[in-house]
Amino acid sequence: MRGPGGVSGAPVDMAAQVGPLSLPNPVMTASGTSGHGTELGAYLDLAALGAVVVKSLSARPWPGNPPPRLLPVVGGMMNSVGLQNPGLAAWARHDLPALARSGARVVVSVWGRSVEDFGEVGEQLGQLVVEGGPASCVVAVEANISCPNVEDGDKMFAHSEAAAAAALEALVAGLGRAGLPVWAKLSPNVANLRDIAGAVLAAGANGLTLVNTLMGLALDPATGKARLGGGGGGISGPALHPVAVRAVYECRRELPGAAIIGVGGVTTGYDAAEMLAAGADAVQVGTASFADPRAPARVLAELEAWCQGHGLASISELVGRAHD
Ligand SMILES: Cc1cc2nc3c(=O)[nH]c(=O)nc-3n(C[C@H](O)[C@H](O)[C@H](O)COP(=O)(O)O)c2cc1C
Repeated sequence: MRGPGGVSGAPVDMAAQVGPLSLPNPVMTASGTSGHGTELGAYLDLAALGAVVVKSLSARPWPGNPPPRLLPVVGGMMNSVGLQNPGLAAWARHDLPALARSGARVVVSVWGRSVEDFGEVGEQLGQLVVEGGPASCVVAVEANISCPNVEDGDKMFAHSEAAAAAALEALVAGLGRAGLPVWAKLSPNVANLRDIAGAVLAAGANGLTLVNTLMGLALDPATGKARLGGGGGGISGPALHPVAVRAVYECRRELPGAAIIGVGGVTTGYDAAEMLAAGADAVQVGTASFADPRAPARVLAELEAWCQGHGLASISELVGRAHD
């Protein structure tokens, strides 16, 4: 029943549409913040989330950066994990079966150090998905192109239209017949985000994940040395939230047909609602899970309560409302 302030206690249709992908709700985990498999399963029902996004995987194992890798900072944290991962094949053997049994919808994040690497990891994943079995739980691929491109002086793929597009083209070609939606995860550290977004969509991406971390540096003034083992690091958490909301808003305005997943400092249902209003079709929760491993489930419950409190019958009434 609707109250005087438009407040309603009626259930909200939480179903989310992310391009061609239908999800039961718009809240996912963010890559790299909930492990490679079912790590958060001890705290929440993975199948109750919109999707679980696994930590970025490459065609071959990668050791990552030296410790320390995490540092709390005002407004969030900095990390320099350096994309450590066991490689896609080992992940498929060790982590994927339990993920499939959990009933979660799985988004596989992939990365590479060269255009060829993106093609190779795409081929490995495409093959896995075509074979079926546990890989039937994979519903989308997220291309983490916020990683150094060894063929371009270690500049990030996501910092160049041409390199970003080349990585996406190689990945899409590698995936072949797998028929999965591909989301390109972009970096906020650019002045031409909308151009880069346009370039990856033209190269075959179906959606945009906005955004990866902001580049930062923390120094110990006594020694002059970096406080993270890898030198600089990526800033995430609440400090990143307005940056991500703006990225989503601007990309939605310029590219109204693109699927958009908003990520950056989503800590409460209100933050998720704001991201959806800016134009995201779904959101991801990352850093908040370090303080509270139940955060993705809590954000989902709070989002539903927020929608109820504001008299919304469905999430779709909220998506992109800032552009009405
Ligand atoms: C410790 C840590 C590891 C991360 N690893 C990855 C990764 O492997 N791949 C990726 O695409 N993003 C990675 N990210 C970025 C997050 O997925 C997310 O884009 C970013 O942290 C902003 O969201 P948040 O503020 O909710 O954390 C990582 C972030 C953190 C904090």
